[in-house]
Amino acid sequence: MMRENGTILAIDQGTTNTKVLLIDGQGRVVAQSSRPVAQWYPQPSWVEQDADHLWQSVCQAIDACLASVDAPRPEAIAITNQRESVVMWDRKSGRPLAPVIGWQCRRTADFCTHLREQGLASFIAERTGLTLDPLFSASKMRWLLDHLENGQQRAASGEICLGTVDSWLLWNLTGGRVHACDFTNAARTQVFDIRTLEWSDDLLSVFGIPRAALPDAHPSKARFGSSVALGHLPAGVPIMSMIGDSHAALFGQAGFVPGSVKATYGTGSSLMTPTREMVVSKCGLSTTIAWALDREHVTYALEGNISVTGAAVQWLGEFLGTKEPTVEIARLADQVESAEGLYLVPAFVGLGAPHWNDAARGLICGMTHGSTAAHLARAALEAIAYQIRDVFDIMETEAQTELKVLLADGGASQNPTLMQFQADIIGHPVLQNTSADVSALGAAYLAGLTTGYWQTLDEITQLSRQQNIFEPHMSASCREALYAGWQTAIARALL
Ligand code: G3P
Repeated sequence: MMRENGTILAIDQGTTNTKVLLIDGQGRVVAQSSRPVAQWYPQPSWVEQDADHLWQSVCQAIDACLASVDAPRPEAIAITNQRESVVMWDRKSGRPLAPVIGWQCRRTADFCTHLREQGLASFIAERTGLTLDPLFSASKMRWLLDHLENGQQRAASGEICLGTVDSWLLWNLTGGRVHACDFTNAARTQVFDIRTLEWSDDLLSVFGIPRAALPDAHPSKARFGSSVALGHLPAGVPIMSMIGDSHAALFGQAGFVPGSVKATYGTGSSLMTPTREMVVSKCGLSTTIAWALDREHVTYALEGNISVTGAAVQWLGEFLGTKEPTVEIARLADQVESAEGLYLVPAFVGLGAPHWNDAARGLICGMTHGSTAAHLARAALEAIAYQIRDVFDIMETEAQTELKVLLADGGASQNPTLMQFQADIIGHPVLQNTSADVSALGAAYLAGLTTGYWQTLDEITQLSRQQNIFEPHMSASCREALYAGWQTAIARALL
């Protein structure tokens, strides 16, 4: 049980920054700090990060957060993180052996094509719920072992640790004592069998990854280990939850029951809806573990990952030479009532869910003499909402549950024009969460359940949230005419 003035230290290690928050028993943020993290692109479509830099950003943010407030030692640590990215390190020294291969990195596309040509895609999907794609960790792990001297033998003999970012942070937080990850992160590696909740020997052999190199996988709500002393963080604070950031956002939005659906608006977007049982998608969604409270209480979910949403707004702002791309595009878009028939399909790296087409390329169509930069800006914003509807509609069909309200979080969700258009184009209300910390809160709620501060999901549902509602106003005929235009544009991008 947490003390009256107890707090949970939540770490959110994301792609572009690390946030650390101190959260109290009412779910309020009492202190926070963040640090940017760098990524780089050594070749077109390659993405890397530095494992030491990720860890240092966590140490600095923890220290700054705890130094900024006069509070007793945290009762527990909660971790949420960017998913799919892979870290490889030496078990003895704890030193990274290669750059982190980032989740967006496409360097293993040829290897995935090779596996597909061997007819392995459905074999993999049946066990993991995932489309065979370079996004997921397994092919990145294969690449890392292939590019390290004696990598395969060293991994097989247990000299090397491979892991997702949660496992790297846990390893360091526990002073190299624990190599473990949670089920949600494991579920995104493409070598974890989400039906049995074990690493799959079949899949490990497909990708040639030795089990000895992988972390132990545990439910998201578990006692993973305890901290060593790090600056203001004392030794012995238990790590009580780990969960991938997209899953944590659904938990943070209290999207616990089937029929709930959340969309996180980032550089790309992720929609996730919990399902009563494991639903295998036939239309390009992923099946995943939303969270596991223990081995017997596993919630499955359908997820749709859209590759480029907010990043298209950033791209357009840079393309037009603006100083503050996202701010300027939002301002321009607000100068017009509609895109007047103009569509921008941001298939810059092909298209993700639900199309999964690597060859698709971006396009702008429907231009006339009257088209202006403002219409183009509006089209970039609308493309976010259209892509979300593409996934939303399929999700509703495959989950076989009416999705009544869309729970929105993430950077671009703070744009009211986008939220109104989103409600109009899906024909359902959108509940905008104005907290920038939904994933960190979700991880903290899980840790609070582990410490026993909160006993039930109902108690978490009751915690206050900062929300605005956007009701749909557009007529059905207008909505469907606009959406038909989008579908035509998508069909062109797929040619
Ligand atoms: O699947 C990748 C996702 O987890 C990354 O999230 O918030 O770091 O962009 P974010």
